[in-house]
Amino acid sequence: MSEPILDTTLPTDSPEVSQSHDEKKLSALPIKHGMRKRGFSRRHFFRLAAAGAATLAANTALHSLVENPRTAHAASSLSSPDKLSSPSTNITEKTRDQNSLAELAERAGKTVGVDLTGWWFNDPKWREIVGSEFNVGAIEHGLHWSDIEPEQGKLDFSIADRMAKFGKESGMKLRGYHLLWGNQKFLPDWLKNGNFSAPEMEEVIRNHISQIMTRYRGSIDEWVVVNEPYKTPLRIRSDDVFFDKLGKDYVRIAFDEARKVDPNARLILNDTQNHSTTGLSFVHLDKEIIAMLSAAGLVNDKFALGIQGHIKGSSPLPQDVTETLKGYGVKTILSECDVDMTDVAGSPQQRNSIQSERLAQFLEAVEASGTCSDYTFWGIGDKNSWLEKGGKPDADPTIYDDNLNPKPALAATKAFFLNITS
Ligand code: XIL
Repeated sequence: MSEPILDTTLPTDSPEVSQSHDEKKLSALPIKHGMRKRGFSRRHFFRLAAAGAATLAANTALHSLVENPRTAHAASSLSSPDKLSSPSTNITEKTRDQNSLAELAERAGKTVGVDLTGWWFNDPKWREIVGSEFNVGAIEHGLHWSDIEPEQGKLDFSIADRMAKFGKESGMKLRGYHLLWGNQKFLPDWLKNGNFSAPEMEEVIRNHISQIMTRYRGSIDEWVVVNEPYKTPLRIRSDDVFFDKLGKDYVRIAFDEARKVDPNARLILNDTQNHSTTGLSFVHLDKEIIAMLSAAGLVNDKFALGIQGHIKGSSPLPQDVTETLKGYGVKTILSECDVDMTDVAGSPQQRNSIQSERLAQFLEAVEASGTCSDYTFWGIGDKNSWLEKGGKPDADPTIYDDNLNPKPALAATKAFFLNITS
């Protein structure tokens, strides 16, 4: 009997706010070769896959929402990474509309990505847009340490597996996000309160990185190894258990282990406020870390500095973005670009115009540095952006509106790629 092509019983409730949930029936959508024989165009095939594939409820505390992976039948079908690489699901080539963001970026020799966020994962329209407009997927939800190992030694990759499956089926390059982040919000209690000695903490870090990267080697192409490094008075958060135990050396340890596990993966040091030396800036800190990693032989053509790129519409773009990125002396990626429109007055049209202009200025300044080939947006759909879900209701930071309709900033991004196409 042929499998249902489109699972029409997709749960309709929006997952992002409920803290409790009935276990949702997960029905992995097996991608059958037979679908192609029945004359589906590849694009039509992807549309169906994007619209009907297994869904899941998720938000930052993903495990409080998402089906207990140990009971969801679908999870077992993803219990080993080879499911991600099996011919029926590891579809890498992708036919996209010639005017899609991804096609325009590729013609400019660039990639354009977005984070694969659990908040939207339940929405067919989101899956259709992400699967057809972007060619890099950043898997954050599902790869937080608290998602993967809530209890020491009990690993659960089911959410990350589903994100990776969707990304692979959509022909995306995958970025694992992030192996280490000192933000307590995303670390399990056993790690935060484990009172490990320095050698024990090093072993815990190396083991974590090795287990995750080994599982996804050949499926996830690049990794944010350390996000927002160190604890400094300047950082919003005051916690960093890795820094507390190992000092600055934890960053070297993390990159050392990551490089050992996968010599071919691109390894990324990611940070915020590092696109300018003006105002709150971590440029100096990141330069110090790059020098340390370089001295340890860990900076090569498969290393990049992640420029998160959370800019504001309410203030002019700093004038030193191009020179700042050039000054690092390494490749960069724009890793989490959005434009916070909080405190920007005006009609929706006026605010959209300001956002579009600021974004274009920023993309052009980054490109002028000659260091960046990868442009990644942090979320599509304003209402489920990390800023609006984090208490900034007027942020409107993404290139798609609350209903996943394009905003002028999307057209500006397409124009940017067109303009740099030689
Ligand atoms: C955001 C995530 O997207 C949200 O899910 C989470 O609730 C808060 O953090 N800098 C980062 C990203 O490094 O990991 C943050 O992502 C946004 C700011």
